[in-house]
Amino acid sequence: MSLFRLDISILGARSSTSALADLAEQEWRAAAPGAPVVRRHLGEAPLPATAWAAAVGTRFVPPERHTPEQREAVALAAALTDELVAADAMIFAAPLYNFGVSQHLKTWVDLVLTDPRMAPGGQKPLAGRPAVLLTARGGAYGPGTPRDGWDHALGWMRRIFGDVWELDLTVVERELTLVGVDPALP
Ligand SMILES: Cc1cc2nc3c(=O)[nH]c(=O)nc-3n(C[C@H](O)[C@H](O)[C@H](O)COP(=O)(O)O)c2cc1C
Repeated sequence: MSLFRLDISILGARSSTSALADLAEQEWRAAAPGAPVVRRHLGEAPLPATAWAAAVGTRFVPPERHTPEQREAVALAAALTDELVAADAMIFAAPLYNFGVSQHLKTWVDLVLTDPRMAPGGQKPLAGRPAVLLTARGGAYGPGTPRDGWDHALGWMRRIFGDVWELDLTVVERELTLVGVDPALP
């Protein structure tokens, strides 16, 4: 048994999603004592924004003509995918930023999707594995609120983790994390 944990927040020790992930990881460790936990923190160590285009570019050029940048991007995508496919369970701690998905998460997903194992319509190596998606937003966008439907991150994350990768996905949402922090949300 092994766990892969992905943190995405840019807020360091103040992160709500990382705090939720700490709880989820703690529970998992209690159920699987001594089992390995592999962590990647995209907020602390972002992936290069140019890597995705470089990896995609290799599709149109024979391998012997790949540039060093393209080779590096393909190797990075493979390393990220290795981390995922080696895990029996996953935790994704993914905040809402600017009404959408974090650029760091988007870059990570885009790169992983360039790996032949993870290409849409491909092998589905993660199908059926348990995963927890922990998300947090400063405001509230539920039915009946003035900004109902403004969270454009969660739907996309459900598509990728649940529908495309076919993980057995549990979603935990925390709202109004900025109440008492942002003067607009007293
Ligand atoms: C740059 C930035 C943009 C944000 N944009 C939104 C937003 O569009 N809507 C919202 O409800 N909260 C927004 N928030 C608040 C975060 O969703 C909230 O702080 C959440 O707890 C972030 O998760 P984290 O603490 O794990 O980073 C934003 C926060 C930051 C730092």
